[in-house]
Amino acid sequence: MKTNNVAIRFDNISFNYPQAKECLHNISFEILSGEKVLLLGENGTGKSTISKIIDGILKPSSGDIYIFDKKMDDDNAPSIREDIGLIFQNPDDQFICSTVKEEIAFGLECKQVDPSKMEEIILSSAKKVGMSSFLESEPSSLSGGQKQRVALASFIALKPKILILDEATSMLDPKGKKDVEDIISEMKKENKDLTLIKISHELEDFYSYDKIIIVKDASLFFIGSPEKLIKNKNIINQANINKPFFLNLLDNLLSSGVKLNNNVDSEDKLIQELCQLKLKS
Ligand SMILES: Nc1ncnc2c1ncn2[C@@H]1O[C@H](COP(=O)(O)OP(=O)(O)O)[C@@H](O)[C@H]1O
Ligand SMILES: [Mg+2]
Repeated sequence: MKTNNVAIRFDNISFNYPQAKECLHNISFEILSGEKVLLLGENGTGKSTISKIIDGILKPSSGDIYIFDKKMDDDNAPSIREDIGLIFQNPDDQFICSTVKEEIAFGLECKQVDPSKMEEIILSSAKKVGMSSFLESEPSSLSGGQKQRVALASFIALKPKILILDEATSMLDPKGKKDVEDIISEMKKENKDLTLIKISHELEDFYSYDKIIIVKDASLFFIGSPEKLIKNKNIINQANINKPFFLNLLDNLLSSGVKLNNNVDSEDKLIQELCQLKLKS
């Protein structure tokens, strides 16, 4: 069951990189504990910057961020980060150790986990991502999908309360992508309170999310349920995010005069509508 605790609160956050135009302007939103959130926006709109602010890697130029009601500051940022897992787009960006085993152990050592328990945690985390036979391998020798699975194993070991996937599957082939998605679904099944944020520039599988946040021109452009978004198709067009195939097809069919229910909100429903049409004709 989802609880109503606020996991992340952005309160009027603005951010500027040195000598660059404003990257984030007065952004406010709340993400509840256990929510599954899709954070969308075209490239360069500040999504990765938001993820780094949540993870305490970047400090806002103004505004406050609260993680589980704790206002983040210089002193508590390192301990708050222990509850957050952030997986980047490029799997090579996140490894610092020379073997998979050391990589998974690294976070546990930082968290000062009892060394006698480490071996078991490392093994079970590697097993959950199907990487137990690669413990002695060098992370750089692995495929992109395997690297992301190792990154996930490191976080499974640390039991984060918040997991952010910053375009984490965008460089993977379909099999690598599915493997990672299956592991994340499994993590969510095992821990319903895990707050999950997926960052993407594509509106994919959006109905499986509790909340969708869209950023555009440095500002918050939309926040709401998938149902609310689908009723405001203009928002999807204005935000310049890639639409799922069925939405493109639906728009084209409607504009060419095909009489279809305008509220079709999934590929399955579009197929049903088209079948009905065929039966009627
Ligand atoms: N280290 C940096 N220094 C200066 N500008 C940056 C830096 N990182 C990102 N930016 C700029 O900030 C904006 C937002 O970047 P980013 O958060 O990576 O967007 P997104 O993840 O949505 O593609 C972009 O215009 C980008 O060029
Ligand atoms: Mg990015």
